[in-house]
Amino acid sequence: MSKLSQVGYICNNCGFETSRWLGQCPQCLEWNSFEENLNSITETLVKSSKLEVLEASKLKSKALNRLKTGISEFDRVLGGGLVDSQVVLLSGEPGIGKSTILLQVLQSIANQRISCLYVSAEESAEQVALRANRLFEKKDLTGINIVSASEIDSITNEIAKRKIKFAILDSIQTVFSADVRGLPGGMAQVKATASKIISYAKANNLTLIIVGQVTKEGTVAGPKLLEHLVDTVIELEGDEKRGLRVMRCLKNRYGSVNEVGLFMMEQKGLVEVADPTKLFTTTDDNEEVEGVCKTAMLEGNRVLTFEIQALVVDSVYSLPKRVAEGIARSRLELLSAILSRHGRINLSNKDIYVNVSQGFRIKEPSSDLAVLLAIYSAYKHIPVNQKKVAVGEVSLSGSVQKPPRFSMIDKEIQRLGYKLLYDFGRNLTLPQVLSQKQ
Ligand code: TYD
Ligand code: MG
Repeated sequence: MSKLSQVGYICNNCGFETSRWLGQCPQCLEWNSFEENLNSITETLVKSSKLEVLEASKLKSKALNRLKTGISEFDRVLGGGLVDSQVVLLSGEPGIGKSTILLQVLQSIANQRISCLYVSAEESAEQVALRANRLFEKKDLTGINIVSASEIDSITNEIAKRKIKFAILDSIQTVFSADVRGLPGGMAQVKATASKIISYAKANNLTLIIVGQVTKEGTVAGPKLLEHLVDTVIELEGDEKRGLRVMRCLKNRYGSVNEVGLFMMEQKGLVEVADPTKLFTTTDDNEEVEGVCKTAMLEGNRVLTFEIQALVVDSVYSLPKRVAEGIARSRLELLSAILSRHGRINLSNKDIYVNVSQGFRIKEPSSDLAVLLAIYSAYKHIPVNQKKVAVGEVSLSGSVQKPPRFSMIDKEIQRLGYKLLYDFGRNLTLPQVLSQKQ
């Protein structure tokens, strides 16, 4: 107990914690940034030493009362809707559409006559209102209350005064607490402001969505630290230049993290894509095309089909280029190495470009085979039948494996009228695949 209540020191700039005061922070190298860190959470834990043990069998089961946002792709990601006093973090790069989707969510909840408040610390209230006027009909604007504020205590006071049940805080990087030193967006401020508003939400039955900005380099403090404090973490991603937006749940204390939500950014904000079938294909199914291979992949519990496009050209530099959009560059390098070795082709003097249709970002290795075939087809000038779909993980030794839950993918491929490019016989290998006609 004595150890818990000890005074520590925290760097105001980066959040580095230490047991003794330091002149310079060893993590961010800032001078004079340490101050006392009386950890209020551990203090309250120490104070409330009376424990209650709950036997699982004695639980009076009450179904979670879920508040539907009315935007079904969003509800799907949440596991059926928002729960009372749930705190959600929505993170994503600037300009991806976080403020847009949350305004749509707020509008939909406000229309259910629940008291709502949109707290904008980034934009003025007029800017948000202007967006609301552009997105919704005049008659649907009832109940959309917007406030532009950035001091956290005045924000919670306003929420309390208006007896708000659902609020949006946009964004955590731009609010501050007068009790803590450091710039808004810094670790100490993010930690303090988030703790304050989250404890308010838990004590007052407020359902809250917090926006967390992530820079392209992922350097800004916040979202990572916040993930531990909130109940649910949702990420919105996509290619800014294209319309598709993918919403993934990374953590959920009130549901599974399996579901993905799909949206298109259009004139009237983010529009749900309820049936993603063939959303990602641009070639004609009846064609045979060089350097393009279709693939299907499980995202959550849905099968998405899309295409991999590859271009292979002579390299003018001594170090050949590997440029990938939609898959990690390191993955492309690895797959190129596998193809050189097991496909017996020389790629050392070739530049390779790989794209995934619609700017979709692949995280699953089940599309390995399609990437390899697209590159191989581009290199050899062999067209690929667009009625066929390649699915499979490829190992370093060149063996091709079924991805998990393959039967779901296979069923969907058949339903769409496509065929699998190769059947998974026993010990299917990359050289076998490449030697057959595509
Ligand atoms: P925004 O929601 O402001 O992004 P974030 O809060 O994540 O920074 O949306 C950013 C982009 O979305 C903006 O560049 C314009 C575009 N957009 C549309 O295409 N249609 C719309 O209806 C709206 C509101 C925005
Ligand atoms: Mg915004």
